[in-house]
Amino acid sequence: MKTTVPRGTFDIMPDEVMNWEWMEKTIRQVFSRYGYQEIRTPVFEHTELFQRGIGATTDIVEKEMYTFRDKGDRSLTLRPEGTAPVVRAYVEHKLYSRGGVVKLFYIGPMFRQERPQAGRFRQFHQFGVELLGEDSPLADAEIITLAVDLYKKMGLEDLEVLLNSIGCPACRGKYRETLYSLFQPHVSELCESCRRRLEKNPLRLLDCKNSRCREITQTAPALEEYLCTACREHLEQVLSFLEHAGVRYRLDPRLVRGFDYYTRTVFEVVNNDLGAQNAVCGGGRYDHLVAECGGPQIAGVGFASGMERLLLTLQQKGGPPGFSRHPQVYLVILSDELTAAGFKLATELRRYGYYTETCLAVKSLKAQLRAADKQKANLAIILGKDEWKDRQISVRRMSDGTQWRVDRKRIKEFLTEVLSPPADRED
Ligand code: HAM
Repeated sequence: MKTTVPRGTFDIMPDEVMNWEWMEKTIRQVFSRYGYQEIRTPVFEHTELFQRGIGATTDIVEKEMYTFRDKGDRSLTLRPEGTAPVVRAYVEHKLYSRGGVVKLFYIGPMFRQERPQAGRFRQFHQFGVELLGEDSPLADAEIITLAVDLYKKMGLEDLEVLLNSIGCPACRGKYRETLYSLFQPHVSELCESCRRRLEKNPLRLLDCKNSRCREITQTAPALEEYLCTACREHLEQVLSFLEHAGVRYRLDPRLVRGFDYYTRTVFEVVNNDLGAQNAVCGGGRYDHLVAECGGPQIAGVGFASGMERLLLTLQQKGGPPGFSRHPQVYLVILSDELTAAGFKLATELRRYGYYTETCLAVKSLKAQLRAADKQKANLAIILGKDEWKDRQISVRRMSDGTQWRVDRKRIKEFLTEVLSPPADRED
């Protein structure tokens, strides 16, 4: 039987892994500058966490979760996102008891049973940050600036930050009522999901892509007009801080995002090359989620970025730099008797930090040099019987054929003169 990967999942093959490593390295570098510490939570959680945290009527909870019963008849769910699990851990470990702000980040697979298409998968990867313990608009601005800085560092410039405020439960309540009475007369013309959403959360109709639904919702007033004074001031300050940080944004009154936990600021960073699936990251403020998860009334704000979409975007721009996959040294062994000595030298060079390859079976000089060339090695070290007796080895630069004879004992020193320093000695 030939088995393939399940629909919506994929293997990350060795050539691609370089790009993932590079992304993760860059993420960790930038996040640490902003003071974020990594947290690793389980891949599955009690289903209830997502039902309560994300909201029972959201698309994710209604249609997209991988939920199963274990042998103890407990309902568990593969995490569809990282915010609720991080907040659960924050509450469970009482991280708030230290006082002050807690800044956490995560990188890992998420699972949603969506219809797969370009940039949309059933197992995908996110990295995200959550800043807990601060309701100041400066925290929102810092989070958005962090996202933009990270993408810049990765080589993306022409991204757009879309931003909106969805207010607090008080001002949103009034807005919901207005939307309900405006859309209710058109209920029979709405698409099936909007008909369902109308009763439970009419705000979600604003981001429906169906053309008839869009026509109907066109007449909706902007939520901004309904914001209470505190929410309006919060938004104005976020915008002002962003301007100070030189972050370009566009207010999008239709941006509501598909999670019930959001309050006030919501945002997405989009890249228009990918078509409909264009949000590289999404985030926002959630001032009641910690309390919803059984903790004190503590505010939070964060974002998460889809790594597959980010990679697709980077590839459209010429690809991430990745890492060099070419051996720095290719050891050519010209005699069976030197196999053990060659293996010893290769091991020493690897332990010293050089990416060293060797032919695992002795072949002709020509065949081994061809292999070194094919792998784009920088240097070939040639171990020949006579030279070895004289305690010498030959080193050949593959790009132009320049050859040196080097004292065996001096080989590491010599390599550091002609190659960049060994990888793990860079720091
Ligand atoms: P989200 O918008 O659902 O937000 O996901 C964030 C990002 O994950 C999206 O912008 C997209 O790049 C990627 N993504 C989502 N679904 C898929 C999929 N099926 N295939 C590929 N990529 C996908 C959240 O998850 C929130 N937890 C973000 C957040 C953090 N809000 C506050 N803190």
